[in-house]
Amino acid sequence: MLTLEDKIKKFEELNKAAEEGGGQARIDKHHAAGKKTARERINDLLDPETFVEVDKMVTHRSTDFGMEKNKILGDGVVCGYGKIDGRLVYVFAQDFTVFGGSLSRANADKIVKITKLAMKMGAPIIGLNDSGGARIQEGVQSLAGYADIFYQNVRGSGVIPQISAIMGPCAGGAVYSPALTDFIMMVKDTSYMFVTGPDVIKTVTHEEVSKEELGGALTHNSKSGVAHFTADNDEQAMMMLRELIGFLPSNNMEDPPVKPCTDNIHREDEKLQTIVPADPNKPYDIKEIIETIVDDHNFFEVMPLYAQNITIGFARLAGKPVGIVANNPANMAGVLDINSSTKAARFVRFCDAFNIPLITFVDVPGFLPGTAQEYGGIIKHGAKLLYAFAEATVPKITLITRKAYGGAYDVMASKHIGADINYSYPTGEIAVMGAEGAVNIMHKSLTESERADAIEDYRDKFAHPYKAAELGYIDEVIQPKESRYKLIQALEMCANKSEQNPPKKHGNIPL
Ligand code: HXC
Repeated sequence: MLTLEDKIKKFEELNKAAEEGGGQARIDKHHAAGKKTARERINDLLDPETFVEVDKMVTHRSTDFGMEKNKILGDGVVCGYGKIDGRLVYVFAQDFTVFGGSLSRANADKIVKITKLAMKMGAPIIGLNDSGGARIQEGVQSLAGYADIFYQNVRGSGVIPQISAIMGPCAGGAVYSPALTDFIMMVKDTSYMFVTGPDVIKTVTHEEVSKEELGGALTHNSKSGVAHFTADNDEQAMMMLRELIGFLPSNNMEDPPVKPCTDNIHREDEKLQTIVPADPNKPYDIKEIIETIVDDHNFFEVMPLYAQNITIGFARLAGKPVGIVANNPANMAGVLDINSSTKAARFVRFCDAFNIPLITFVDVPGFLPGTAQEYGGIIKHGAKLLYAFAEATVPKITLITRKAYGGAYDVMASKHIGADINYSYPTGEIAVMGAEGAVNIMHKSLTESERADAIEDYRDKFAHPYKAAELGYIDEVIQPKESRYKLIQALEMCANKSEQNPPKKHGNIPL
């Protein structure tokens, strides 16, 4: 019979074995590649000593290819829960040192279990992905495991925040779990995602492309719009995830967490009076306005490298998290196109699902004209943003800084699609289109000087916010320097907003 000492020794040995993962040689190789191990990443992500591991002793059940003699405790994924800034979160981290972090039936069951637990307890789930994909030795059992995870991702969508960090390879169908989650973080130089890798592409289409170019962090953050954040290394990725979680409620039944605000809510900034140039064709960076207004000038931008003609992200006003959507005239004059519409639409829906009020800054000359946009379906994609804003029932506060032209005026959280408070700066220009375009259409055969007069006349009549204010479409024309307090007042006024869409199974957003 085993003595008490023997039993404790066995317990300690098993724990040590589980924590060693695939062994020191593989850990060294992993470190040499500039990557941290699954457990080191979890340590960086969570508050110190809060991690509780679940299913540490799970092993795979495969009997093919000699696998019955090749079992490692935990089977390539570390799962559990812990805290970020004292708030409960669930986490799974694929361990590349164990069978390349590949997904076995047992491994998938662990992820499904922790995701279900996160949903039941109403707390975010964070997945740290670093995997060679389906466990080759297990075949269809692994595919079934993936599908089970996808199913839980969809069930959890809009219920708890789901966040994915890609910390190494993520290829084939495996990319679809991160794709179903709310945010994707990627690490420069060490992470990549693609449905089919460079070798298959070369065989099928004869295209030659590197892994990095095909699916590296910069590709997905700037070109495809698949990812939302880029980190320089593993540690920075974990710090950014901690910051992101700080803006989010734990689930869709809660409000986002309020932080004590030490920034004066009445703070006025003279700088704001002159950021928007008098010349309507001169660009400026909307981020300068956002950062001047929000608490501690802290704006956590989402997708900063993609569709830069629209800026989205989180900030706080009087300590309360808000989601910001802003046309950015610094890039393509802030025009709405396919990419900016889909980028903003998904963000608006995230904020609405998780009770995060929306602040919209408007300076938009309209939708981008051209065959590329029309053939690409700007009608359908622009409609996504319109739909998302109209459907959102969270507090919606809009501030027109300059241009609000044409259909884009309607789309950008106008009064007509349910915004609660609509402000404009005195520099606001609310019209069907810009003066030059309007005159070109209304008067076809004018001399140069008549044309200049007509443009001036149109500007006087329409390039201001007062007609809209007269009609009640703008609630108040405000001084730029008082933006901070005005937005905070509007948010306070909306604090108990209670609005619901008509009962339905779900709407039919133009996908
Ligand atoms: C089992 C795997 C594995 C896998 C890697 N390993 N991928 N074991 N199943 N899918 C093991 C290796 O045998 C090796 O074991 C260890 O992990 C590290 O792998 P290396 O190849 O030495 O590492 P590296 O050179 O860094 O290359 C990493 C890699 C490569 C690019 C990910 O391993 C690779 O191409 N793996 C296969 C990728 C793949 O085709 N997966 C299936 C995709 S299809 P040892 O014992 O030597 O340390 C798919 C379908 C999902 O995933 C469908 C969902 C619907």
